[in-house]
Amino acid sequence: MLGVAPFTVAHLLLGRSAMPRYQRKDAFYAQAKEAGLRSRAAYKLEQLQKQYKFLRSGQRVVDLGAWPGGWLQVAARIVGRKGKVVGVDLKPISPLADAPHVAVLQADVSDADLIDRVRAELGAPADVVLSDLAPRLSGVRDRDQAEMRALAERAVELALHWLRPGGVLVIKVFMGADLPGLLNRIREEFSRVVTTRPEATRKGSSELYVVAFSPAAQVVRAPGKRQD
Ligand SMILES: C[S@@+](CC[C@H](N)C(=O)[O-])C[C@H]1O[C@@H](n2cnc3c(N)ncnc32)[C@H](O)[C@@H]1O
Repeated sequence: MLGVAPFTVAHLLLGRSAMPRYQRKDAFYAQAKEAGLRSRAAYKLEQLQKQYKFLRSGQRVVDLGAWPGGWLQVAARIVGRKGKVVGVDLKPISPLADAPHVAVLQADVSDADLIDRVRAELGAPADVVLSDLAPRLSGVRDRDQAEMRALAERAVELALHWLRPGGVLVIKVFMGADLPGLLNRIREEFSRVVTTRPEATRKGSSELYVVAFSPAAQVVRAPGKRQD
């Protein structure tokens, strides 16, 4: 066991029509606490997974911006012990209980040696790269959007180093003037790109998730066994 209580989003949504919208959003926070999840963000990944089914047993997964570890818990449960999950964050992430297949790295995604550090942990190309990276918000919209865009572009760049052919990138972005340019960049690199907004996203948030399938070409790959 991973120290993760079993959970689904389905039960959360029961009775939703009877609840005001803001209460539904708050329910994710309370539910995450009760389920032993490290963040309400875990439900966003759960909902993205329900929609697009990109995570499978035995896969290798990188989770960028992983602290405190809600997405890590979800990914670790789905890939199981035959898989591998590598979480990266500026902040130190407490290791998941009883989950030897999960590695945590304290690093800045801009670190030059991160590409090799993650490759060494994975041992082979990644099936899925997740990015829930977000800057510390200043409240100055242009500044926050520029920082978010830089993080998203770095996540795309890193994913192209790590993903196998047929792999999937899931990445958080902010809606705004920058978004079309960023989406065009992702479309240049991936065969199919969709945007979606999970139910668990907070009301008023400008965040959106991009799911990008099958990188058109990879940057020089680490030596290792192909998985496809
Ligand atoms: C929304 S939180 C992630 C929540 C996480 N997905 C979960 O489920 O618990 C965004 C994270 O991005 C991290 N972050 C922001 N800039 C970063 C950077 N340059 N390098 C690494 N992590 C960064 C922050 O420290 C923060 O923990």
